[in-house]
Amino acid sequence: MRIHIALIGFGHVARRFVRLLDESREALRALDLEPVVVGIATRRHGAVFDAAGLEAHTLATLSNLAAASGAVGPALDSPTAAEILQRLGRMRSDARVMIETTVLNVQSGEPAISHVRAALAAGAHVITANKGPVACAYRRLADDAEARRLSFLHEGAVMDGIPIFNLVRETMPAATIHGFRGVINSTTNHMLCALERGEDYAAALVRMQADGVAEADPSLDVDGWDAAAKVAAMANVWLDARITPAAVAREGLTPACGDRARAALRAGRRLKLIGAAFRDGARIDARVSLEELPADDPLAILDGQANALEIQSTPLGRVVITERDGGLEKTAYALLTDLVTIRRRLGR
Ligand SMILES: NC(=O)c1ccc[n+]([C@@H]2O[C@H](COP(=O)([O-])OP(=O)(O)OC[C@H]3O[C@@H](n4cnc5c(N)ncnc54)[C@H](OP(=O)(O)O)[C@@H]3O)[C@@H](O)[C@H]2O)c1
Repeated sequence: MRIHIALIGFGHVARRFVRLLDESREALRALDLEPVVVGIATRRHGAVFDAAGLEAHTLATLSNLAAASGAVGPALDSPTAAEILQRLGRMRSDARVMIETTVLNVQSGEPAISHVRAALAAGAHVITANKGPVACAYRRLADDAEARRLSFLHEGAVMDGIPIFNLVRETMPAATIHGFRGVINSTTNHMLCALERGEDYAAALVRMQADGVAEADPSLDVDGWDAAAKVAAMANVWLDARITPAAVAREGLTPACGDRARAALRAGRRLKLIGAAFRDGARIDARVSLEELPADDPLAILDGQANALEIQSTPLGRVVITERDGGLEKTAYALLTDLVTIRRRLGR
């Protein structure tokens, strides 16, 4: 089955994804899945559309898509993301999919929410690695997708390619999820481990920025916003919380964490930034907070950039899934697994 794809956002994740599509072509063919990228949009680096299919892996080597004209085929112009989605919607196709990987706006979820709505209105299934739509507008978007008999999938939004949403949806039928707790932000876990070893807070942050672990503007991570967005996303999907990241009680890292992390370690415990949400009757308790964990807690043993999530359910009790190291390839793989899920749902 040929599936036509529009990529809205063409940065690190999307570029790795188109390479993975090429690397996985044989495996996908065995699943009767032939992906054809027909449109790509960025904000400031050009946009292209060709109903006959783009050489996406070649485009992934260019810094600006405007430079593609003539180099990778005819009919390349510079449409907006909205125009690309409209053109995708008008295509005769077995299935249309938008893959959304624009930047996260933790307050509003935009522009990703608008992209998701436009794709659904155009009759396209949606895959996103962007936390925004799931953290800020999950119920509305999921209902819209369901009403149109389309998929809205988001495996890459939390813990890269580690299958957490798939784990619950595909392998825990009829289970009741009571809540979850996890170490879900790599930068802050890496920072806390460095502080335990005696590194100065400012020096550790500068070193991590130099190593590419922390962003140039690390506030999204160290202030707990990234973790709050992930907590909101999981609470919305599993607990029907209908919250946004702003509703998550939030604590971040400060220079004072160094003394606290070392004191905890001396006492045989470890200081971790925990993202958690639990249902208490009609109430949802959602928070990001620093906690001193006993050494045998499965979240206490995580070093460096490792993440882990403990999901509490009936009848399974506590299930823990760990990501030893993250990376772009894993997020790209999450997009691929969502694409395969859509193919499977289409049957035949
Ligand atoms: N990097 C990871 O390992 C990772 C892991 C999990 C989830 N994610 C999530 O995946 C998403 C993408 O991450 P990334 O690392 O690939 O980001 P990135 O390298 O900054 O790329 C973002 C892309 O989105 C484009 N964009 C921004 N606003 C747009 C708009 N209004 N219309 C069209 N395109 C727009 C950008 O275009 P310009 O370059 O022209 O501005 C760029 O192509 C983010 O939401 C991130 O939180 C990333």
